[in-house]
Amino acid sequence: MDIAFADWLNLIFRWLHVIAGIAWIGSSFYFIFLDLSLRKRRELPPGVGGEAWNVHGGGFYLMQKYTVAPAEMPEELHWFKYEAYFTFLSGFALMSVIYYWGADAYLIDPEIADLTQFEAIVLSIGFLSGGWIVYDILCRLPLLIKHDWLLSVAVFALILLVAVGTTNVFSGRAAFVHVGAVVGTIMVANVFFIIIPNQKIVVADLIAGRKPEARLGQEAKQRSTHNNYLTLPVLLMMISTHFPMIFSHEQSWVVVALILVVGGIIRDYFNKKNAGRSGNALKWQWPAAATFMAGLILFVSHDPAAGSRQDVTVPDPSVVLAISQTHCATCHAARPSDPDFDEAPGGVHLETVDDLRKYSAKILQQSVLTRAMPLGNQSKMTREERDLLGVWIRAGMPDGASE
Ligand code: HEC
Repeated sequence: MDIAFADWLNLIFRWLHVIAGIAWIGSSFYFIFLDLSLRKRRELPPGVGGEAWNVHGGGFYLMQKYTVAPAEMPEELHWFKYEAYFTFLSGFALMSVIYYWGADAYLIDPEIADLTQFEAIVLSIGFLSGGWIVYDILCRLPLLIKHDWLLSVAVFALILLVAVGTTNVFSGRAAFVHVGAVVGTIMVANVFFIIIPNQKIVVADLIAGRKPEARLGQEAKQRSTHNNYLTLPVLLMMISTHFPMIFSHEQSWVVVALILVVGGIIRDYFNKKNAGRSGNALKWQWPAAATFMAGLILFVSHDPAAGSRQDVTVPDPSVVLAISQTHCATCHAARPSDPDFDEAPGGVHLETVDDLRKYSAKILQQSVLTRAMPLGNQSKMTREERDLLGVWIRAGMPDGASE
């Protein structure tokens, strides 16, 4: 009953999160495109910095951008902010249902850190809020304001630090989602604390007939540039839970670094293209992104901890079955003994040697190459047990001497 209820909340919040995220990123991609595609083709009305023609849905649009703002406030003005806020709220709700409510199964891995549910939740909220606080301080340091590239390096390093930190306290899966959530929180907080408030001051200045400070626009521009380059990486981190090979590497910060680089480079291609650049300015991004992606794939497939062991003799199936009985069949059985489950999760039964053969490829993926299973590792499965499973599967799952 409990699980069914959690599943429904999971589904509803996830649905909302994906919809809000699409709306947010969709409108932000459009405005980035619009901003970069504005041109000064003819005499423009006073205050207009550039314009662009768009065609969509059977009509033509003439978009004009007033740099800073028009002389008078328009009667009706649309703001774009709720997409970002709802992405955060639904994301946090989802985090609470899966990782806080289900902390023992999803957030905590006693092999990594034996935390109580309360400690783990406090740490999680600490990462989310701490990430934003440190990032915001970095963006205000005079030295970093002067040198954009230095600030980018600092933000990059901050994200890698978060990856190292979360990997040392949470389960692999939770650690990776937390890196994505910290970055996502920074992006929403940029909208909530900087971009929209600055915009509001500009609007108030205009109504009062004052000339808005240029600093307000520059600050907002800096933050929205960060958001722009972080969008693609954050999306991959959010869907990483489906890919144990991504989230369970021992050096997850290297994986995070490569994802940031690949996503950032691809985003740069579109930024340059939208800005009307051509030729050499657009030639390097795809080859560079492909090279780094290949680097990521190579790196992930060379996890030393998950390598096949030469020094372990092929075990008897009875040994392998005993491991599965202890660590897997508590959930993966027709009648799970784990109180959280009424039926075998994912329809995967691991009760007989034939079951193990049937799911061998997945077992290799979930429990040998990565530590995604057992979920939450409450039974404290050891590296040696994983290696035994791996050696048996790689040896072609022999029957053994006794049979
Ligand atoms: C505490 C309960 C629990 C234990 C113990 C457990 N699992 Fe799972 N397993 C799950 C749940 C829940 C899922 C559903 C997928 C998810 O939420 O990621 C799952 C999914 C799977 C899948 C399907 C993944 C896919 O790609 O569809 C495999 C394979 C698997 N587990 C193997 C194992 C192995 C092998 C063990 C023992 C070493 C194990 N599990 C121990 C709960 C458990």
